[in-house]
Amino acid sequence: MASNDSRLQQQPDQRDAADQNFDYMFKLLIIGNSSVGKTSFLFRYADDAFSSAFVSTVGIDFKVKTVFRNDKRIKLQIWDTAGQERYRTITTAYYRGAMGFLLMYDITNQESFSAVADWATQIKTYSWDNAQVIMVGNKCDMEDERMVPTEDSQRLADDLGFQFFEASARDNINVKQVFDRLVDRICEKMNDTMDGDGNNLMSNHRGQDLRELPRENQGGCSC
Ligand code: GTP
Ligand code: MG
Repeated sequence: MASNDSRLQQQPDQRDAADQNFDYMFKLLIIGNSSVGKTSFLFRYADDAFSSAFVSTVGIDFKVKTVFRNDKRIKLQIWDTAGQERYRTITTAYYRGAMGFLLMYDITNQESFSAVADWATQIKTYSWDNAQVIMVGNKCDMEDERMVPTEDSQRLADDLGFQFFEASARDNINVKQVFDRLVDRICEKMNDTMDGDGNNLMSNHRGQDLRELPRENQGGCSC
């Protein structure tokens, strides 16, 4: 039965979300204009699924995925924000405490690329200084309709100090790589700051993420 199937499919997600067995919790946010493919990108990563239907996100949603680095279990809490302007007040409230951002535009949509600088300003305004950002040019499967040259994007990413990938949620290009890179950068940053003045990304930000850590392991990430 279809209803049974969908219930079954939801079970791992629910188990994952409630699972307290992890070493670190990373809160990540996906931001960018409406229709660039944020929800599709997250679905591809978390569920390995894609739909060509466009159901614009209302407010904010999240999925959980667990990854491993050096035998440490890292629980990713990935927030999928609505790109529509009318939800901006709600979505920016979630920036605080985020350790990483995927700032997404659509390579076939010039307006979404022009908006990247504004999204970067939003990150600066509402998030932690230490938050890591990766700029993602989604829909690279639509080469025939490309409006944003790769070189322009690379230049902007360099100017903003962000790493840059082109990707496709539809064809599953660079989706896992983008998340892996973001997790690696967060781990690197945590190790860097630990090596320095003893503060790390977590201990700088005693908020929900710290409280959610299940063990006495707030002294840094060994990944
Ligand atoms: P909001 O929720 O309104 O902010 O939009 P969103 O950024 O979440 O966009 P969404 O993921 O809903 O995708 C918008 C449309 O683009 C949908 O019709 C998707 O099927 C399509 N889409 C998403 N990713 C890709 C991709 O990589 N390639 C192609 N060709 N289409 C894509
Ligand atoms: Mg969406």
